[in-house]
Amino acid sequence: MMIRLDKYLAELGYGTRSQVKKDIAGGQVTVNGVQAKRPEIKIDADRDQVTYKGDAVTFEKYEYYMLNKPAGTVTATEDRSDPTVLDLLKDQRRKGLFPVGRLDKDTEGLLLITNDGETAHRLLSPRKHVDKVYYADVRGKVTEEDVRSFAEGVDIGDEKMTMPADLEILESGAISRIRLTIREGRFHQVKRMFQSVGKEVIYLKRLQMGSLVLDTELKPGEYRKLTKEEVDSLC
Ligand code: URA
Repeated sequence: MMIRLDKYLAELGYGTRSQVKKDIAGGQVTVNGVQAKRPEIKIDADRDQVTYKGDAVTFEKYEYYMLNKPAGTVTATEDRSDPTVLDLLKDQRRKGLFPVGRLDKDTEGLLLITNDGETAHRLLSPRKHVDKVYYADVRGKVTEEDVRSFAEGVDIGDEKMTMPADLEILESGAISRIRLTIREGRFHQVKRMFQSVGKEVIYLKRLQMGSLVLDTELKPGEYRKLTKEEVDSLC
């Protein structure tokens, strides 16, 4: 793939077009071992060896990040009033990255961020029924009856009942602790499912989406690239 050097670097997230142009003019970029002088030169992204400030620039068509979304961020690419999940990917601002699916502003946990539209589409497709696993603290005593209701499907005010979901009670009390696996992604689904049985979700965290499991090393707000194994099993 032939592409202009400044466009290539900007698309890979090395800076805006004008920043990258300045860096090229400042002698910070080499192509095949030779200092690049002009931003408009065309390079072959599959063959040419580019360095930026001494580091090799590698071209990957698709990038995949696992973010432990913190509460208070919105799952969007831009927002007027709140920080977005993409704002957290500080040095990796490759163009075209977007979050796969939506977590509420107050929900934490696993969020995949990628520029791979096809994989995102597959993970989100209502027909694929990809498992999503959540941990929640719930106000009210979660009971075996709730387990049975969720397994059958509950009325959350939509046209259709929810699909069978697996509810596991970790602790039942004034505040209950649960794990829930759902196979759909309706708006506020987990909160509305508990509402339908007269309870309130007071803390929600996504732990898993399909084969992708939240890395317990990641603190809220931290992210990392997916490993090759994770990408392979996802795609
Ligand atoms: N269900 C919810 O209610 N909220 C989320 O953020 C995700 C699933």
